[in-house]
Amino acid sequence: MENDKIDILIERTKKIKMGGGEKKIDKQHSLNKLTARERIDLLFDKNSFVEIDRFITHRCTNFNMEKQEILSDGVVTGYGKVDGRLVYVYAQDFTVVGGSLGEMHAKKISKIMDLAVDVGAPIVGLNDSGGARIQEGVDALAGYGDVFFRNVKASGVVPQICAIMGPCAGGAVYSPALMDYIYMVEGSSQMFITGPQVIKTVTGEEISAENLGGAYTHNSVSGVSHFICKDDEECIENIKKILSYLPSNNMEKTPIIETEDEVNRLTDSIENIIPEDINKSYDMKEIICEVLDDNEFYEVNELFAKNILVGYGRVNGETVGIVANQPKFMAGCLDINASDKSSRFIRTCDAFNIPIITFVDVPGFLPGTSQEHGGIIRHGAKMLYAYSEATVPKITIIVRKSYGGAYLAMGSKHQGADIVLALPSAQIAVMGPDGAANIIFKKEISQAEDKDKVRTQKIEEYKNEFATPYKAAERGYIDDVIEPKYTRIRVADALDMLSYKRKQTIPKKHGNIPL
Ligand code: HXC
Repeated sequence: MENDKIDILIERTKKIKMGGGEKKIDKQHSLNKLTARERIDLLFDKNSFVEIDRFITHRCTNFNMEKQEILSDGVVTGYGKVDGRLVYVYAQDFTVVGGSLGEMHAKKISKIMDLAVDVGAPIVGLNDSGGARIQEGVDALAGYGDVFFRNVKASGVVPQICAIMGPCAGGAVYSPALMDYIYMVEGSSQMFITGPQVIKTVTGEEISAENLGGAYTHNSVSGVSHFICKDDEECIENIKKILSYLPSNNMEKTPIIETEDEVNRLTDSIENIIPEDINKSYDMKEIICEVLDDNEFYEVNELFAKNILVGYGRVNGETVGIVANQPKFMAGCLDINASDKSSRFIRTCDAFNIPIITFVDVPGFLPGTSQEHGGIIRHGAKMLYAYSEATVPKITIIVRKSYGGAYLAMGSKHQGADIVLALPSAQIAVMGPDGAANIIFKKEISQAEDKDKVRTQKIEEYKNEFATPYKAAERGYIDDVIEPKYTRIRVADALDMLSYKRKQTIPKKHGNIPL
C-alpha cells in the first residue's frame, strides 16, 4: 500500500481527535469542564477504549450546512473496559457545534445502544450538548425519538448511567430521565424543559439557570438527579463506582468484591445507637454501615426525601440494595417523595438481581392535605407494588417503630419479604401507644378522676401488650427476634440461604404500577 494513504488516515485521525480545535478546547477547560475524549480516558482502563464511527458526519444541506465540517458529528462513541468489564459509551463533544444532536449524531448513539443490549453490557452516556441541532429540524427530533425508544428497550436489560456535564435542555432531558441513574456536576450542568428566558416570557417569573435546573436543584428539590459531583473527575469516579455494584445485564449476578471484613463480625454498636426513648431520633445510616462490608454505604438520592435512605453496599462481597427509614428527618415517616424514591430504587434492584435489605423505623405516612391532595394514595401504593412485585431475595429488619400502613409498605412479610427479623426494640402495631390508648381507652380516661394518671397507665398497658415484636412473631409475621449484635451475621446467613431463590410469576404483558 502506498504510504500516503496511511498518512491520510493518520492526518484525519489527528484532526478528529482535536474535536472543535484548540480554541474551543481551551474554552471548555476554562469552564472547568473536560473534553469528551478526556472524560472517556478517565472512565476506561488504560488503552482499552475502542472508538467506532469516528468518520461519521452530518448530511444536512439546510442553511448552507454542506459547507460545515462537523467532526464525528459532535459525539464520541465506542466501548472499553471499566475495572476489566465491558462498557459502552457515548460522550457528546461540546467543542464541536456545541455537542448539538443531529440525525447522524443520534445514529451513532443508537448504534452503541443496540450493541450494548445485544451483547449485554452497561451504557454510559456523558451529556454535554446544546440540544437538537437547530439547522437539522425534524431530523434532529427524529434522532432524539430513536434514542428515547432505545432507552426504553434497554431499560431493565442493561444498566444505563448518564452524566450531565453541561447543558441539557428541552426534550433532550428525556433520554437521561429514561436511564437508571443521573449524575450532575455542580456549577456546569443544567437540565430543564424550558429555560429561564422562556419561563420569563410565558409566566413572568425570573430565575437563574442554576436555580432552575442546576445540580443542587435536581438533587435536592426535584429528585430528577441521583448524584451530585463537584467536578468532572469526581463524576467519572462515581460512575465507575456504581458500575462496580451492578451486573452487566439482567441475566447476570452482580460482581463479588472480596473483603477482609469478617462475615461473622458482631454488630455490637447497634444496641447503643437505638435510643431508649422511642421519640428520640438517631442516624439510621450508622446501623446500615455497621451491617455492611467495611462499613461502606453508597447512598443514592442523598439530598432528596431525606426521610428515607436508599443505596448500595455489600454483604460478604455481594451487592445488596438498602431501603431504610431515617428517623433523623421527619421522624422517618413516609411521604410522596419518599414513596417515589424508594419504589424506583426497589424496582432497579429487582431488575438487576440485587437482594433488598430493608431497615424499618417508621411512625406511619405523613398526615396533611398537601400529601392527600398530592396523591399520597397513588404514590404510597408504588411501594406496596414495588415490594410485592420484586422477586429478588428480600430481607427486612424491624429496628423500632413499624406502625399501620407503613408497616406493610416497608417490606413486610405480607408484601413478600423472605425473611423478617426484629430487634427487641421493635414495636409492630396499628399506631403508636399514645394515639392507640387515647382511642381504645377513651371512655375509661374521660370517666377517671385523675385523667392523666389513667392515660399514662393505659399507654403503659398498651405498650407492654402490643408495642413489642412478640405479637407479630407469634403469628409468624416476623421470623425471629434477634439480639442487635447478630444483625450482620443473620443478614449474611439469610442472603446465603436465599441465594438460590427462584420465583416464577404468572406470565403477563406487564403489571400496571400506579404512576
Ligand atoms: C446548533 C448549536 C446549538 C444547537 C449550540 N450550538 N447549540 N448549534 N444547534 N442547538 C452551537 C453554537 O452555535 C456555537 O457554534 C457552538 O454550538 C457553541 O455554542 P455557544 O452558544 O457559543 O456556547 P455557550 O455560550 O456556552 O452557550 C451554550 C448554550 C447555547 C447555552 C447551550 O449555545 C444555547 O442556548 N444553544 C441553544 C440551546 C437550545 O435552545 N437548544 C434547543 C433545545 S430544544 P459556533 O459555530 O459559534 O461555535 C431541544 C429539543 C429536543 O433540544 C427535543 C427532543 C424531543
